[in-house]
Amino acid sequence: MRVTVQPGVMHVGEARSAPGVRVDVHVRPGDAKRALRQEVLRGLCGSPKELSPRWLYDERGSQLFDDITRLPEYYPTRREREILLAHAGDVARLSGATTLIELGSGTSEKTRLLLDAMQEAGQLSRFVPFDVSEGFLRRAAASLAREYPGVTVHAVVGDFEHHLARLPEGGRRLVAFLGGTIGNLKPPERARFLAELSSGLRPGDGLLLGTDLIKDKERLYAAYNDSAGVTAEFNRNVLRVLNRELGGNFDPDAFEHFAPYDEHNAWVEMRLVSRRAQSVWLSTLRRRVEFAEGEVLRTEVSCKFQQPRVEQELAEAGLRLVAWWTDEAGDFALSLALKQ
Ligand code: AVJ
Repeated sequence: MRVTVQPGVMHVGEARSAPGVRVDVHVRPGDAKRALRQEVLRGLCGSPKELSPRWLYDERGSQLFDDITRLPEYYPTRREREILLAHAGDVARLSGATTLIELGSGTSEKTRLLLDAMQEAGQLSRFVPFDVSEGFLRRAAASLAREYPGVTVHAVVGDFEHHLARLPEGGRRLVAFLGGTIGNLKPPERARFLAELSSGLRPGDGLLLGTDLIKDKERLYAAYNDSAGVTAEFNRNVLRVLNRELGGNFDPDAFEHFAPYDEHNAWVEMRLVSRRAQSVWLSTLRRRVEFAEGEVLRTEVSCKFQQPRVEQELAEAGLRLVAWWTDEAGDFALSLALKQ
């Protein structure tokens, strides 16, 4: 894999410069498209049909997800913020970290809560936002560098599945993986992810992990089937992504959003259900994809957890749980674990 290190002033669509921002790029421009093609060939041409949730987040999808975080039914974002408001200081103290590495995002209010707590404790020297979207990451890095003068910002453009073991070295590091995004990985993928992440850490480095918790089915259902239909739009947006990127002719309205909670697997599953028998043409792939009436395309799983399971999965990756915090209602949890 090519690695471009571009020290100094980096900017995309930014008039002002951001001194002290470094950006490492581990992905090449065509990587995402190649991965999408491969995955669609495998995922849409098999049975049951399935796509990775990463394709949900084009520009419009990211905006829709942002809208989801403000829905009355979607509690995770608010609950996680509540926990960080109460415990960011504890995270700083217990981790002793001087570098914050954030997987995904890097613009959120939650990032700032952590950075502020580390700064107040006098221990913040570096922030490493890690994201797959280069333009997004460069803008986030530039604004964080302006907001935290004296803090080194070292952005890494990479994807969780390939570049995790190559996190920047140096100092005591805390990796934050928030929002419950780890729930998008099924158990075997999750074990691989945690092992890979852990392999890049040194003893004493930490992981701050957000996980959504098992709760009554009705609330889980409501959170992923909101009454305003925003989640439905977010889900169907993946079909627009396929249309644009692969020359497809999906009619998004010919698919119904449905996200049931599967108690056995303890995950919510986002589905697009074909409203009728139909066939779709993907010109870039020169493939026709057939859907029977009622046939399901799975676009995401979102796993729900309990403390013992999280503790055990972390331990299996060589990460010892040192703190477990939940919000008042017990809806969501933040775990702090240290590499053994
Ligand atoms: C961003 C993966 C944490 O699983 O709750 C929200 C994505 N999907 N509504 C989640 C999502 C449907 C979200 N994560």
